[in-house]
Amino acid sequence: MGGNFDKITKRKNTKSVKWDLKSEDILPMWVADMDFEVAFAIADAIKKRAEHPVYGYTMAGEEYYEAICSWWRKRHNFDIYKEWICYSPGVVPAINMLIKAFTKQGDKVMMGVPVYHPFFEAIKNNGCNLIQSELKYENGSYSMDFHDIEDKMKSENIKLFILCSPHNPVGRVWTKEELTRLGDLCVKYNVLIISDEIHCDLVYKGYKHIPIASICKEYSDITATCVAPSKTFNIAGLQTASVIIANEELRAKFNSVLESNGLMGPNMFGIEATEAAYKYGEPWLDELLIYLQNNLNYLLEYMNEKMPRLRVVVPQGTYLVWVDFSDYGLNSTELHERLLEKGKVWFNEGYIFGDAGKNFERINIACPREVLIEGLHRIEKALEGI
Ligand SMILES: Cc1ncc(COP(=O)(O)O)c(C=O)c1O
Repeated sequence: MGGNFDKITKRKNTKSVKWDLKSEDILPMWVADMDFEVAFAIADAIKKRAEHPVYGYTMAGEEYYEAICSWWRKRHNFDIYKEWICYSPGVVPAINMLIKAFTKQGDKVMMGVPVYHPFFEAIKNNGCNLIQSELKYENGSYSMDFHDIEDKMKSENIKLFILCSPHNPVGRVWTKEELTRLGDLCVKYNVLIISDEIHCDLVYKGYKHIPIASICKEYSDITATCVAPSKTFNIAGLQTASVIIANEELRAKFNSVLESNGLMGPNMFGIEATEAAYKYGEPWLDELLIYLQNNLNYLLEYMNEKMPRLRVVVPQGTYLVWVDFSDYGLNSTELHERLLEKGKVWFNEGYIFGDAGKNFERINIACPREVLIEGLHRIEKALEGI
């Protein structure tokens, strides 16, 4: 059953991180969750379970694993097996634990920047050293700088590469060719890969998500793929994710970190929601993707017409739009304050994704069209007179 994406569902006073951290007059278009109601089948599965009034320790049953395996096989041509699937209460916790499992203090971890900001914290939390490879920003689009990556892998003894695929915040859906170049370098220089594929299902027409571990055995042997239904189906509050690790030795390392944190039991509602989402949520997702595409087109046309000094990095995936405000000549703080105080609209400041992100803002367009239009008006107001 499809969704009604135009419907405005008030989220204020629902203990929402997105909506309840600032006052009512600020329009939140920042953190990556959507303002859409979930697919009926998900809400129904949760309600059914909630009706049984005992909420004890829960385990994931066969159907849960089967739902995940079928989804990945069908949507992403990735043949995974129940035994490969490890539990995690989220992808960010998974990345923290994977770094702990695969490195020792002082090891070097590489990633392409700008990138999702909790990766920086995860590297620091584990006492590792970050080696950045700045993504190339040319003609309004980003790509990996393979020469820089190889130079650094050759000279820096890198242990681990954190790949964001599709990439938050720049919206790239990496091609098979790019992933192969990266995978080959990682194999050549003995670098393990953490591939965060949480945005895998949110890909626009004309692009295809390819799990790096699905390309060949050499890559799947060195990769831990982080996945979750949370972005796809808007259930981040249920804190249920998985890490797919084909290599038995690496899997054992990850599971031992999980155990050492006492993290073995899944969230009861998360299990129900995941199963329902993967089994019945596909038609809803297909409609969502059309809605997001139309929102994106609206934003592009609006900015092109009314604010041509903004440079939009057109996303190939994710509902996050990376916008370059540098033509206005404001520093990061001035820009953000102006948007918040004059425009009353809240985006993620670009610099939190790394220095290369200053002068950018990340705009979340997963909201009813009416809300998006309001957000665009607010940007215009914020920039008035500059
Ligand atoms: C690339 C990426 N990874 C992970 C997360 C968060 O994952 P989780 O809520 O499962 O910790 C996000 C949320 O925005 C994200 O964009």
